[in-house]
Amino acid sequence: MENNQSLFPQFLYGGDYNPEQWPEEIWEEDIRLMQEAGVNMVSVGVFSWSKLEPAPGEYDFGWMDRIMDMLAGAGIRVNLATPTASPPPWMTRRYPDMLLQKGDGTHLWHGSRRHYCPHSPDYQHHVSNLVTTLASHYKEHPALAMWHIDNEYGCHQEQCFCDTSAATFRVWLKAKYKDLDTLNRTWGTTFWSQGYSDWEEIIPPRSTPAFHNPSHLLDWDRFSSDSWIERFDDQMKILKEITPHIPVTTNYMGFHKGIDYWKFAAREDIVSNDLYPDTFQEDWIVEAAMVHDLIRSLGHGNPWILMEQSAAHVNWRRRNAPKKPGVMRLGSYQAIARGAVGIMFFQWRASLFGSEKFHGAMLPHAGTDTRTWQEVKSLGNELPALNQLLLSRVIADTAIMMDWESWWALENNSKHVNDIQLIPQIKNLYKAFYDRNIQVDFVHPDGNLEKYRLVVLPYQYILSKEAAKRLDDFVKGGGTILVTTFSGLADENDHIIPGGYPGYLKDVLGLKVTDFTALSESRGNVVMTSEGQVFNCTYMADIVELTSAESLAAYNKDFIIDTPAITVNHYGSGTSFYLGTELDPSGLDWLIERALKTADLALPIKGLPSGVEGVIRQTVHKKWLFLLNTGEEPVSVPLQISGVELLSKTRIQDQIRLSPYGVAVIEMN
Ligand code: GAL
Repeated sequence: MENNQSLFPQFLYGGDYNPEQWPEEIWEEDIRLMQEAGVNMVSVGVFSWSKLEPAPGEYDFGWMDRIMDMLAGAGIRVNLATPTASPPPWMTRRYPDMLLQKGDGTHLWHGSRRHYCPHSPDYQHHVSNLVTTLASHYKEHPALAMWHIDNEYGCHQEQCFCDTSAATFRVWLKAKYKDLDTLNRTWGTTFWSQGYSDWEEIIPPRSTPAFHNPSHLLDWDRFSSDSWIERFDDQMKILKEITPHIPVTTNYMGFHKGIDYWKFAAREDIVSNDLYPDTFQEDWIVEAAMVHDLIRSLGHGNPWILMEQSAAHVNWRRRNAPKKPGVMRLGSYQAIARGAVGIMFFQWRASLFGSEKFHGAMLPHAGTDTRTWQEVKSLGNELPALNQLLLSRVIADTAIMMDWESWWALENNSKHVNDIQLIPQIKNLYKAFYDRNIQVDFVHPDGNLEKYRLVVLPYQYILSKEAAKRLDDFVKGGGTILVTTFSGLADENDHIIPGGYPGYLKDVLGLKVTDFTALSESRGNVVMTSEGQVFNCTYMADIVELTSAESLAAYNKDFIIDTPAITVNHYGSGTSFYLGTELDPSGLDWLIERALKTADLALPIKGLPSGVEGVIRQTVHKKWLFLLNTGEEPVSVPLQISGVELLSKTRIQDQIRLSPYGVAVIEMN
């Protein structure tokens, strides 16, 4: 990834623009209204393959030329999409083998979108022709500012199980294992008579009577993730040859399980994300913050783009929550507070037909005489007030470990507890930091830990010896770690590390887990701290034997009574905490408080009333404090700083009043 700090001179504002769905007479009005709303970039062509190439090899760029020229004339830049997420019907009719196939053998036909198998050579061939032609055609166009490759890789269907995929999987496996003996050993195929004697016997994990081999599943997940990344690479290569100076992105889906975004993000010029929070959920704002922090971390702290959000509701949940007055603005500034340099929407003008006609848009069916339009217009005209923040960063001292491979293996089958899920667990931990306005990064197990004071490992099921060694060194050197149950159990092949859990972390944690017990869904257990606080715990309890660690809290009922549940170990110049169960929120809060004290992490922003989110963006010379009122009541915020509030251009001292869902951005003195 390049350092993309200077890619854009202003905050990007705009959205997906699908002019091909409209008569050309409307386009002029579109452009006039875009200018009125402060739109400076639109994503064009995301789903226009059948319009651009109506028959094999017959290209029609006429309509796109006209709109590209109009946009250039109006000073609106184009984030030009390669429309490869929805191949036209002529293609699947010609090459029925390119349709996605599910694990149960069902084909997924054309008639919606994302129905292609990433391994189909026919699909790849047509993509290469189309992308080469498109890029050559527009390489000099003044509107072209960025490439948007495909759309949400892995959305709807993450994996294809067809025969072509099977053959490609075997090629991937041969490159990885070289010989079948190694594969058989790594997959542990002596179990249930799964030994392979010929590569051709290996198939994707299609529907089976009972559990799949977990090591096979893990490689399949890696392979499937790699396949989408390879399809991105194919296009990236073409685009970089033809337009080397144009930045390239593709849009992610937050904590999307199917693709290892760490691997993916390393290839992009700038990371982008789509986010559609369900505002009916109480904690939607916490989850949104967590996703933004992930996306910023994937790009190693570089600026990123909120590529899609809705200006109002979506149309694909059972009940689609509205964005109440001020909520779209609040969510947009939350993204900026957490590092975004672009606020974009799906989509510009609400469609009159198709399956997204009931989806919110910047310009609703009822036109400009709507609250949504007014909010969109006012945000677009307000954003330039923050242009001086474009080069600023968000700095975090705390990191949560996040690893797609471990996530896949964790949530595979046949464990002693099978209803644990990684993302809710991450969210529980994240919330304890969020509530204190402590900025958090996400870090890969192979990532650089040195810049953090505190590193948290939620359910880090797979942990390599090397990654464990780095954690050990981190603690010896003075760092603090907090490791939860279900961490460090298995190696990269999903084989248990023998000799007691958690594998290679036993020394740094000063303990050995000799067994674990699931807790019944109805009863759980209770954890009591040495100071007498009591917290509920659930899911599972590890049976911990202390070596050098001390117990901070123990279970207080059932046969595990008095067994340590939470421990601390002073190791080298640092400290490690272990949590052998899943704690209720007050327990987690208690534990995080201790970990923060140990890591000597002071609160960066003190005294904010609950419901007010505070985030700092900074450069070497300056700091800006974002205050976000996440509630629907006005609130007064006492301040220990003074400075100018940039959106209202007023000087602030001692306190500031935020309206419902109100936002302030204070340039700190
Ligand atoms: C995204 C997708 C857009 C649109 C949007 C609706 O997942 O990229 O094309 O479908 O959802 O919410």
